Amino acid sequence: MEAASQALSVLEVAGYAPDQARWYCDHLEQGKVLFFRHVPFEFLEEDRNFLLSQKQTGSRFHKNISYRPATDVLKGIDGGSPDRERLHRVMRSFSSEAARFVAKFLAPYAGKIKADFASFRPLEEQGRDLPLHKRNDLLHVDAFPTRPTRGGRILRVFINVNPSVPRVWNVGEPFHIFLPKLMQAQRLAPPHRGPAGKFLAHVAAQLGLPVPDRSRYDEFMLYLHDWLKESSDFQKNSPSQEIVFPPGCCWMVYTDGVPHAALSGQFALEQTFIVLPEALVSPQAAPVHVLESTTGMRMVN
Ligand code: CO
Repeated sequence: MEAASQALSVLEVAGYAPDQARWYCDHLEQGKVLFFRHVPFEFLEEDRNFLLSQKQTGSRFHKNISYRPATDVLKGIDGGSPDRERLHRVMRSFSSEAARFVAKFLAPYAGKIKADFASFRPLEEQGRDLPLHKRNDLLHVDAFPTRPTRGGRILRVFINVNPSVPRVWNVGEPFHIFLPKLMQAQRLAPPHRGPAGKFLAHVAAQLGLPVPDRSRYDEFMLYLHDWLKESSDFQKNSPSQEIVFPPGCCWMVYTDGVPHAALSGQFALEQTFIVLPEALVSPQAAPVHVLESTTGMRMVN
């Protein structure tokens, strides 16, 4: 298998000019994976070595470290761990460098893009024993149960931190291609959300309980995430292609629109961004628009 740049769904970025920013936004929104052979922002060698050393920490090491830039909170590592402070610094720096780069590289999104959580994924993806809906190695689109986006898009930036082993993905056709076909063939129905659900969400919010007020769009995306993983027909027969991300590379992709599966690889960093619907340069390719035109229903109110 050749390097990632040979794959059709991948676009290699090798040097860029500010006047190309809109073009890159457009290609991302249409379902391309943008690939950088090297990390296009500051990422220190010593930070990488520190992250790689985490494998020796033993069985108590968590499967997923998450960092929340808005509150500067690190989760997924014991309070008593000697590595905690350093890991916090490394995640904070990765998150802010990634955000700074994206603000410049995707300039048309200025003021309408929000840094969500970052994560460090230290486990080997191949052969993980997870329940079906949590499996990473099945094609799916991303949706967040606790953080509804109400039509906002999920953009993710990844680094393959591993110095010698590639990270291997499988990716499918973009949302505006696969979803209408699927709806026609499978009679997917968007879940109806009765007034009771709306009322409960309202009451929960009043009480300060963490029940997210999901739009019909968010409900549908969660449903679709599970449906795709459950469908052996989609997993086996939908067009997809393998992408090999070499050691030390970086890539970004709208994971709410591009079905993806992590087949193998160990040690990845990831920063998530939420891009508001009004920021998009090709809104007709956005899942919320595709769902509205396919079903004839309003997805967000
Ligand atoms: Co995913």
